[in-house]
Amino acid sequence: MSVVALVPAAGRGERLGASVPKALVEVRGEPLLIHAVRGLLDAGRVRHVVVAAPPALVDATAKLLADAGLPADVIAGGADRTASVGLALRHALDVIPDTRVVLVHDAARAFTPPAVIRAVIAAVEAGARAVIPVLPVADTVKQVDTGGVVLATPDRSALRIVQTPQGFDAATLVSAHALADSATDDAGLVERLGIPVATVLGHPHAMKITTPFDLAIAESVLAVVQQSERSPVEQSSDRKQGV
Ligand code: CTP
Ligand code: MG
Repeated sequence: MSVVALVPAAGRGERLGASVPKALVEVRGEPLLIHAVRGLLDAGRVRHVVVAAPPALVDATAKLLADAGLPADVIAGGADRTASVGLALRHALDVIPDTRVVLVHDAARAFTPPAVIRAVIAAVEAGARAVIPVLPVADTVKQVDTGGVVLATPDRSALRIVQTPQGFDAATLVSAHALADSATDDAGLVERLGIPVATVLGHPHAMKITTPFDLAIAESVLAVVQQSERSPVEQSSDRKQGV
């Protein structure tokens, strides 16, 4: 089945507060967008990647990806995340009309492990129309009113933190975006159609980079991932040299 990945990367990153849009902020010397697209391609199943970039940065983003040797189409994103995904989806279906599986993956979740990406694709291929990676909630969560007074304590065991990539059967995602509604994730639109959304286990490394604190965590996450990817011989030579 043809798998296409859409990467919304057109946000400004206001909460991060960097001098460039968040997708272009570097972690260990490379922009988040490059890490995210490389992760998708490294999973080994994605045929085509479409990136939604800030409109003024389409050419610069395309050059960045090309220079990194990562094949991807870059289009101008929209006013919010849902609009950016909708525009990327339209482009993807124009370019690859026989697309069967669509992944939607935030550039801000640049370190999702390839195994999670493959698990999402596998669940769609096994028949789910919408699939999201999730993690259990570690903290107690309260619902509050507009004044901050607690209204309720939802049962944490029934709550999940949601990550990306989210995977969809292409026709389902097209119907969801045809609602012309907005949501913080694409599965939220699918839910409005009454279509069940399945879950697979996510991973802490698929955290969303929102604040400077998250960026600091991401630096450490990537250091650990890069170290574990090195061969045992390289690691032992590092130890001998006291690296
Ligand atoms: N996004 C997008 N188009 C927009 C807004 C957001 O493609 N108009 C993307 C972001 O680039 C990001 C993802 O959607 O990869 C998730 O959004 P978020 O984490 O909120 O990123 P930003 O909107 O950039 O950050 P902020 O809300 O802090 O400004
Ligand atoms: Mg945002």
